[in-house]
Amino acid sequence: MKVTVIGSGYVGLVTGTCLAEYGNDVVCLDLDPEKIALLQNGGVPIYEPGLEEMIKRNVEAGRLRFTTDVAESVAHGTIQFIAVGTPPDEDGSADLKYVTAAARNIGKYMSDYKVIVDKSTVPVGTADKVQQALLSELTLRDKHISFSVVSNPEFLKEGAAVEDFMRPDRIVIGVADETAKDLMATLYAPFVRNHDRILYMDVRSAELTKYAANAMLATRISFMNELANLAEVMGADIEEVRKGIGSDPRIGFHFLYPGVGYGGSCFPKDVQALQRTAQENGIELRVLDAVERANSAQKTVLVNKILRRMGEDLTGVHFAIWGLAFKPNTDDMREAPSRVIIQELLKRGATVTAYDPVAMHEAERVMSGWKGLTFSQNPKAALEGANALIIVTEWKAFRSPDFGEMKSLLKQALVFDGRNLYDPKRMQKEGFEYFPIGREQG
Ligand SMILES: NC(=O)c1ccc[n+]([C@@H]2O[C@H](COP(=O)([O-])OP(=O)(O)OC[C@H]3O[C@@H](n4cnc5c(N)ncnc54)[C@H](O)[C@@H]3O)[C@@H](O)[C@H]2O)c1
Repeated sequence: MKVTVIGSGYVGLVTGTCLAEYGNDVVCLDLDPEKIALLQNGGVPIYEPGLEEMIKRNVEAGRLRFTTDVAESVAHGTIQFIAVGTPPDEDGSADLKYVTAAARNIGKYMSDYKVIVDKSTVPVGTADKVQQALLSELTLRDKHISFSVVSNPEFLKEGAAVEDFMRPDRIVIGVADETAKDLMATLYAPFVRNHDRILYMDVRSAELTKYAANAMLATRISFMNELANLAEVMGADIEEVRKGIGSDPRIGFHFLYPGVGYGGSCFPKDVQALQRTAQENGIELRVLDAVERANSAQKTVLVNKILRRMGEDLTGVHFAIWGLAFKPNTDDMREAPSRVIIQELLKRGATVTAYDPVAMHEAERVMSGWKGLTFSQNPKAALEGANALIIVTEWKAFRSPDFGEMKSLLKQALVFDGRNLYDPKRMQKEGFEYFPIGREQG
C-alpha cells in the first residue's frame, strides 16, 4: 500500500519504517530540513534499538524515502498518518497546531480519496477538528473529494519502539466507515498474523484510550513512589512489597518500580492534557491531580537524601551521575528527572560529571551552558574524584559494576541510587554508604 507519514520523529519514523518492512511503499515527511537531510544521507536523528538497520534495509529496497515536499507527500499515500508532536500548551492542554497544520496541508493538495490517520496522541474530539481543517481547505479550492479520518493511537515504548510496533499487544482503531476500516485492516494484517489484536471502536473511544493508558501507568508509578517513601520511614523494604503485591494477578508486576519520578515526552504532558480535557467538561479527575503532585515531589527525593547526608551547601562537592535519559535504551531527554536533579545540585554550588551510554549528545544540547556540569565519555572516568555517585537511569550496563574499582575511583564511598539497582546488604559489605529509594540505607 502507499503510505505517507507526516512527522518523522520517534513515532513517525518508527511507524514509517515498520510499515515499509512489511512491503508498503512509504514516504516520511518532515518540515525540519536538517532532519530530512540527515535521513536522506543515511543518518538517523534518534536512538532506537534496531531502527537504523531497518531504515537502511528499506531505503535500499526502495520502499522508504524521506522528503520535505508537502505536495509530493500528499500525492503519495492513500493512507496519510499524522505523527507530529502535540506538546502541552500554556494551560496544559494538548497544543494541536501541528496536527491541524498537517491536516490543512493534506486539504491543500489532495486530489483523490485519502484516509487520514491520527497517530499523534490527541484529545477526544480532535478527529472532528482534523475533518474541519481538511474541509475548509477543500472548500477554498472548491473541491469535493471524499476522505475519512481515523484514530489510531500509538502505544510503542521508546527504547523498544521497533519491537512494540512489529509485535503490538493491541492495535486500537477508531473508525466510522467501512472503506477506511478495510484499508486499515489490510495495512495492519501482517502485524497480527498469529492472532488478531485489532480493536475497532468509535473514534472518540480510541482517542480517550490512549490517554487512559498513559494516565493509568503514571498512576501506578506515583502510587509506588509514595508507598516507597512511606516504606522507608517505617523500616519496610519497598522491593519486597513490590514482589508481594505484583504476584497478585489483578495487580501484576509491570510498572511497579519506585524511582525518581516519571519523565519523558508522554506521561507528563498526557496526564496534564487529560486533566485539562476533564476540567473543560466539568469533570474532576482527583486521582490524576495527586499523581502529578506526587511525581513532581518525587523528582527531588534523591536530592533531599543528598542534602540530608552532605548538607545544604554543596560548594566544593563533586558528583558523578550515571544515566541522563528519562529511561534506558533511549536518548530522549524530554522531562528527564536528571535535568531537575542536576539543576538542584548545581544551584547549591556542586559540580557534576555525567555519563550516559547514548543520551550524552542530546544532554549536551539541552544542558548546554550549565555551569559546573561536564560530561564523561565513560562511566569509570565519571567516578574519578567524585564525592558520591548518583544513579538516575537504570541502564543494564550499570547493574553489575566492579565495586572495588568503583570505591577506589570515588573520593568517598557514597552511592545515591534512584533506581534501586543494588542490594543494600551487598553494598554495606563492599564498604559503601548506600542510599536507595524506599528501603533502608545500606
Ligand atoms: N515518543 C513516544 O514514545 C510516543 C509514544 C506514543 C505516542 N506518542 C505521540 O506521538 C506524537 C509524536 O511524538 P514524537 O515523540 O514522535 O514527536 P517528535 O517531536 O519526536 O516528532 C514530531 C515531528 O513532527 C514534525 N512536524 C511538526 N509539524 C509537522 C508538519 N506539519 N508536517 C510534517 N512534520 C511536522 C517535527 O518536525 C518533528 O520531527 C505525539 O503526539 C506523542 O504524544 C509519542
